[in-house]
Amino acid sequence: MSQDALKVAAAERALEFVENGMRLGLGTGSTAAKFVDLLGKRVAGGLDVTCVATSHATQAQAEGLGIRMSTLDETPFLDLTVDGADEIDGELRLIKGGGGALLREKIVATASGRMIVIADASKKVETLGAFPLPLEVVPFGLTATRNMITALAADVGCEGDLRVRMLPGGKPFLTDGGNLLLDCHFGRIEAPEELDEALKLIPGVVENGLFIGIADLAIIAGEGGITLLGVEDSEGAIVR
Ligand code: A5P
Repeated sequence: MSQDALKVAAAERALEFVENGMRLGLGTGSTAAKFVDLLGKRVAGGLDVTCVATSHATQAQAEGLGIRMSTLDETPFLDLTVDGADEIDGELRLIKGGGGALLREKIVATASGRMIVIADASKKVETLGAFPLPLEVVPFGLTATRNMITALAADVGCEGDLRVRMLPGGKPFLTDGGNLLLDCHFGRIEAPEELDEALKLIPGVVENGLFIGIADLAIIAGEGGITLLGVEDSEGAIVR
């Protein structure tokens, strides 16, 4: 099966969690886009949902499919957000932000009763960090912010290049909020909670791409079928 087909398979499974009348958060990236496509077909068939997008790109896609869109100001609590991830570990900790939307993705996911992550099996890792961790940073004081990130990350065992994300034409990539992204090439993040806490101490860091304690369920599609990774009860059944 192609990677694309695996993304569709994960998105199809996530659609089973969608119910009529729900308020949904729509993620960003190629996997989330498959979900939005499928949702658009269900809406065309009569499904009634109200959605909030995590990026301009997803907003445009969803509007093009005729999905009713709202904002977090009009609809501040969502029932469910479905989004992709760059890495998922066994404890449902994620790295997100490969598409640059990590801030809005985190705001929308935490405004949701439940977050479901959809991914092909290449995203499942033992240890987070092979994918460079994106940080959204304000342009003002970038060098000072970068130095502080280097120092505090080293305190929790993370070292590596911090690279401003660039567009192919040579200009810096700007997020939907007008900020820069620093991609941190740490290689391995042994203590994600400690790194997350350290990064939150730095004023120039608007948000980081570690999603810890936010996702409730991961739907991972591989050659052998779908694997669910979630909070389990004593008998191993997924409870949320
Ligand atoms: C967007 O900012 C990201 O968090 C995406 O959810 C993540 O990069 C996964 O994207 P793909 O589904 O395209 O791999």
